[in-house]
Amino acid sequence: MEGQRRGIESPTLLFLLTCTMLMLMLMMIPEVSATRFIVGANQGWTTNVNYTIWAKDKHFYLDDWLYFVYDRNMVDVLEVNKTNYDACNADHPLHNWTTGAGRDVVPLNVTRHYYFISGKGFCYGGMKLAVHVEKLPPPPASLPEKSGSPLSNYHGQIVVPTVLAIAAVWDIFIRIW
Ligand SMILES: *[C@@H]1O[C@H](CO)[C@@H](O)[C@H](O)[C@H]1NC(C)=O
Ligand SMILES: *[C@@H]1O[C@H](CO)[C@@H](O)[C@H](O)[C@H]1NC(C)=O
Ligand SMILES: *[C@@H]1O[C@H](CO)[C@@H](O)[C@H](O)[C@H]1NC(C)=O
Ligand SMILES: *[C@@H]1O[C@H](CO)[C@@H](O)[C@H](O)[C@H]1NC(C)=O
Repeated sequence: MEGQRRGIESPTLLFLLTCTMLMLMLMMIPEVSATRFIVGANQGWTTNVNYTIWAKDKHFYLDDWLYFVYDRNMVDVLEVNKTNYDACNADHPLHNWTTGAGRDVVPLNVTRHYYFISGKGFCYGGMKLAVHVEKLPPPPASLPEKSGSPLSNYHGQIVVPTVLAIAAVWDIFIRIW
């Protein structure tokens, strides 16, 4: 009886295996597909960069990150609302992201507009960034809505590593049972 229950041919076990793998896939995919943007690329968060131009050709998706790299003795990272972004008013930040290290990570975990400025007068010189965070795009139009692979929702390059990882996990399960 013991041996029977551990057999790989048991439909219950197969069902559990399938559930486990689906959970693993769901856990792995959002992690590898999130993008961490270094604000201002190799120039970082500083004066004399037009962040409107930097952000213009980029898509910011839910659960991406902004990484502000800057001179901690000079500038800071404040999230403000649109009114205060337009006016460069640093007196009522919604969130002060400045931790003191000159390296601050902002999780873009809500689909909305985010507005960042530097206080200390630098916003007036153009040190301000507005990003619009969107939901991940739907799968390509050629795929039927319901039956498309869940993997096709995400940035293409992660599909192969994910499939390999799942194959490895599957292999381990087969060996254990
Ligand atoms: C932003 O906050 C200020 C107060 O600091 C308020 O007067 C203004 O109406 C707010 N603007 C928006 C768009 O919420
Ligand atoms: C933001 O937080 C930092 C670190 O706690 C602090 O030094 C700074 O004064 C704060 N800035 C504002 C505008 O609140
Ligand atoms: C988004 O992240 C901020 C900062 O870590 C956190 O305070 C907030 O609760 C998060 N919101 C959601 C919807 O996860
Ligand atoms: C940044 O570039 C945009 C688009 O070219 C322009 O409208 C804006 O005035 C510039 N901002 C600054 C601070 O120069």
